[in-house]
Amino acid sequence: MEIIIQADSQEASQTAARIVARTVREKPHAVLGLATGNTPLRLYRNLVRMHREEGLDFSGVTCFNLDEYVGIPPAHPSSFHSYMWAHLFGHLNVAKERINIPDGLTADIPAACRKYEQAIRSAGGIDVQILGIGTNGHIGFNEPSSSLSSRTRIKTLTEETRLDVAAAFGGEESVPTHVLTMGLGTIMDSRMCLLLAFGKKKARAIAQTVEGPVTAMVPGSVLQMHPRVILVLDKDAASELKMADYYAWVSDHKPAWQKY
Ligand code: GLP
Repeated sequence: MEIIIQADSQEASQTAARIVARTVREKPHAVLGLATGNTPLRLYRNLVRMHREEGLDFSGVTCFNLDEYVGIPPAHPSSFHSYMWAHLFGHLNVAKERINIPDGLTADIPAACRKYEQAIRSAGGIDVQILGIGTNGHIGFNEPSSSLSSRTRIKTLTEETRLDVAAAFGGEESVPTHVLTMGLGTIMDSRMCLLLAFGKKKARAIAQTVEGPVTAMVPGSVLQMHPRVILVLDKDAASELKMADYYAWVSDHKPAWQKY
């Protein structure tokens, strides 16, 4: 795992945007896996700025989102569809037919999940999967106890996660109980995973993900088995890492060709 610790979320988001932009420049038909939540907002703002000011071209790019709430229409203000159009797709030149987000209203959930997996395969697999992390260590919506080789499927949210997103739904009682999410096996098939985490609230999940045992109880820890993972953290999210000084030293002594 490559751990990049930066002064704040602004600097960290710029680094993450450079990593994504490099992929898109090197591979105009890149496939991006996308996350929602507060964490990637600045990264998305940077990508929009690069598109406007530097001509970063997304016309050949295909996107797959990690997850969506079950039973929430795409137009609902707290759906991940709404989030993605408000913060990213509405401002980039991604072709509409190459945008994929799980359908939370589908009548046949198992079939829709199989179709989603098939669509990822047909697109050639995900080049860069952007990830945030839940306070309980979940990635996508793979809650603790998720199978480490799971595929896209329905999941039931934990109370901790429902509380974390309660504000967006005007209270915990209105948060959907079920979601569709790429599985941990789906995420592990990506060629690169780029996980962002900011703030003290994420410090424990990050320490367990990076330095704890690989366990379904901390779904992010499966990334220890992935050959190409970059974690971009601010100081607070890195504050419980035992080897933080070593990771910083590694970053400072990288050969020029390895820098972002
Ligand atoms: C939700 C999303 C995850 C995201 C997590 C953290 O659970 N499904 O993809 O990483 O929230 O959200 P935030 O970045 O707002 O802390």
